[in-house]
Amino acid sequence: MTKPPTAADLTLRQQVSLLSGEGYWRTQPLPESGVPSCVVSDGPHGLRFQADAGDHLGVGGSAPATCFPPAVTLAGTWAEDLAAEVGAALAVEARAFGVDVVLGPGLNIKRSPLCGRNFEYFSEDPLLGGRFAAAVVDGLQRHGVGACLKHFAVNNQESHRFVVDAIVDERTLRELYLAGFEYAVKTARPWTVMASYNQVNGHPATQHHRLLTEILRGEWGFDGLVMSDWAATVDRVAAVAAGMDLEMPGSRGLSDRLVVRAVESGLLPAEQVAESAQRVLDLVARSARTPHGEIPVDAHDALARRVAADGTVLLTNDGVLPLVPEDSIAVIGSFAEQPRYQGAGSSLVTPTRITTMLAELERRGANTTYAPGYDPAHARQDPQLIAEAVVAARAADVAVVMIGLPPSYESEGFDRTDLRLPAQHDELVAAVCAANPRTVVVLSNGAPVLMPWKDLPAAILECYLGGQAGGGALVDVLYGDAEPGGRLAETFPAAQDDDAAAPYFPGEPHQVQYREGLYVGYRYHTTIDRQPLFPFGHGLGYTTIAWSGIGVDRADVPAGEDVTVNVTVENTGRRAGSDVVQVYLHDRTGVVARPRRQLAGFAKVRLSPGERRTVAITVAARAFAFYDVSEADWRIPSGPFDLEIARSSTDVVGTVTVVVSGGVDTAAEPVGSPLVAVTDEQFEQRLGHPVPRPRPVRPFTRDSTLGEVSATRLGRLLKAVLWRAAPLDEATRADPAEMAMYEHGLDELPLRAAAIFSAGKLRWTTIDVLLHLLNGRPARAAAALLRLPGRMRE
Ligand code: BGC
Repeated sequence: MTKPPTAADLTLRQQVSLLSGEGYWRTQPLPESGVPSCVVSDGPHGLRFQADAGDHLGVGGSAPATCFPPAVTLAGTWAEDLAAEVGAALAVEARAFGVDVVLGPGLNIKRSPLCGRNFEYFSEDPLLGGRFAAAVVDGLQRHGVGACLKHFAVNNQESHRFVVDAIVDERTLRELYLAGFEYAVKTARPWTVMASYNQVNGHPATQHHRLLTEILRGEWGFDGLVMSDWAATVDRVAAVAAGMDLEMPGSRGLSDRLVVRAVESGLLPAEQVAESAQRVLDLVARSARTPHGEIPVDAHDALARRVAADGTVLLTNDGVLPLVPEDSIAVIGSFAEQPRYQGAGSSLVTPTRITTMLAELERRGANTTYAPGYDPAHARQDPQLIAEAVVAARAADVAVVMIGLPPSYESEGFDRTDLRLPAQHDELVAAVCAANPRTVVVLSNGAPVLMPWKDLPAAILECYLGGQAGGGALVDVLYGDAEPGGRLAETFPAAQDDDAAAPYFPGEPHQVQYREGLYVGYRYHTTIDRQPLFPFGHGLGYTTIAWSGIGVDRADVPAGEDVTVNVTVENTGRRAGSDVVQVYLHDRTGVVARPRRQLAGFAKVRLSPGERRTVAITVAARAFAFYDVSEADWRIPSGPFDLEIARSSTDVVGTVTVVVSGGVDTAAEPVGSPLVAVTDEQFEQRLGHPVPRPRPVRPFTRDSTLGEVSATRLGRLLKAVLWRAAPLDEATRADPAEMAMYEHGLDELPLRAAAIFSAGKLRWTTIDVLLHLLNGRPARAAAALLRLPGRMRE
């Protein structure tokens, strides 16, 4: 066998060609040099393998694969072992398709519950998100398939995702938005990282030298490959210079020539191109490439079912759950028949099978009646459907009402504007609860919702999006065959405006200001003592578990050392069950302004009846540290810290105090600093520089979106042409969720991304001619046109 080439064996042109993919899902092969391509595929909770033509929005079909519960549900388990199992199962499916790198997990912080893609992310907390991401990466890579951590970085909204500039101060960046990535990169060493669409403090993430080269590689030791999100590249030369190795999808050499020229003219060091090309070659070398094995459909379906049950959060329960088999059940809500089990967009999986709740109840021979209650796709109000549901509820021992967010409410590509459920769903719950006091509400949604009826039902189950086996898992939970093992990995606010980020989300099209700083989710709620609807970490079980013997291995801690918290946990009930011991840190040193509580460690414990175990939870030295901007480093304050051992961010069972010595006594952001930078002055002080002016909409540039240019007649025409060229089949056109995503996607697509997606049909020159016309400069357009043939040959 001949040795595979290194970058040094390739010409500059060959090296450059490796730095852009071939089509949607492959790296560029170089057959003449014996370099095959490596195959990447979405996604985070199941393979979306597209053998032929592809798309990045999930509108096109894909081969059947197990649809595991999305990240929101997986994180709800608080069980990293399950996350690793899912990662391993994804690897098996990837291998079956011949996929070398799975494009996930996604671990962006849930800055706002309104982000349309929250279902694909783990948590509002970086410790939880980072640990789950690391577990999935580990599960995948142990089985020979690469992971791709995404979306790096500060990609916390869908609105204007291609162009928005996230303005965030350094401390918040480090402690909240980068911390999870840092943990996952350092501990699980992912093969690849995906640079996000947005800009961060004035620079596109795909050409952010500081993020990609100084921090990711320099500080964290990342040795893998950085690829762009799909069509996220802005300036290819600047991207390569910043450390972004691979442009995806392939743009058929759209900018290859520019990169070659930049090297030839000395603008871009040749070594930089060679290094990136070598990373592509290294990725190809570690990839298996050949399809191997088959999907174990039943086993993976069973795993998906287990994860869904374990991620189900029992929010309230007056004792109605678990149900007894003799109960007659009025099943209410169309989701029982047409489940909402995953979110729309690039993560959309074609499942191997789907278990609905109704079918599973039937299989068990349960005594059920069914009333749809609402139309599953639309949220229209319909009193008749509610009246029918009330009749069914009155006649049964128990009513189980499945409600939630219709698919068109939350998706990749756009954010929600409202935390409320559809009015029809809220009214349905109120009416059914009035008709039957034994009503169980079951929620299917990918992110928090408001519950004006919270105190009416006998029990509320948050099932999130359960994946393909979610219906079966729900029935397991209802009857107590499985425990609802979940805890919220996010805060459910009591009102839409209760989040500190609410006034600043999603910002303007060209800029979003992170004025709430560190005060996201429970960090804000616990600091200002605001009661949420349901707190971060909350979840009940079916058994009773007692905690005792709370202690630490030492009360005096030299700065930089870990602490171990011990808790004895005993199942005092008659059922097997689990609990999640959470440790929050409360900095009482008075050195630096900090959120009142920060998750510092956790452990999920599973216990059979009567079992008793002592769990040891490590609070890593890093948990004590804050990022000191003036020192550009992490620092640990000296003084007392409380470690609060809790069942949720508001339910503290016991506190132990430790005293740190040898740390720092002063900080750049002292206690008493404002939590939220409400005024420009406060924000500027936190940023350390003036708030940048957002890029103006006019004149139009390559960054202008189709929505922006359609303020002109020509722009409208252009958008209409691209709309007509859209690969939308009948089924897609009939689906309101997919259409909403597509419409937003097209409206917010910058011209430069349209050029990349066009795979060579739209050249830069064409775009520039169009821009002159759009900017009302026909003479310049004509001049550019005259040069067109020559340039087109490029
Ligand atoms: C998404 C990525 C995804 C990629 C490929 C993009 O639009 O943001 O998460 O991996 O498409 O489908």
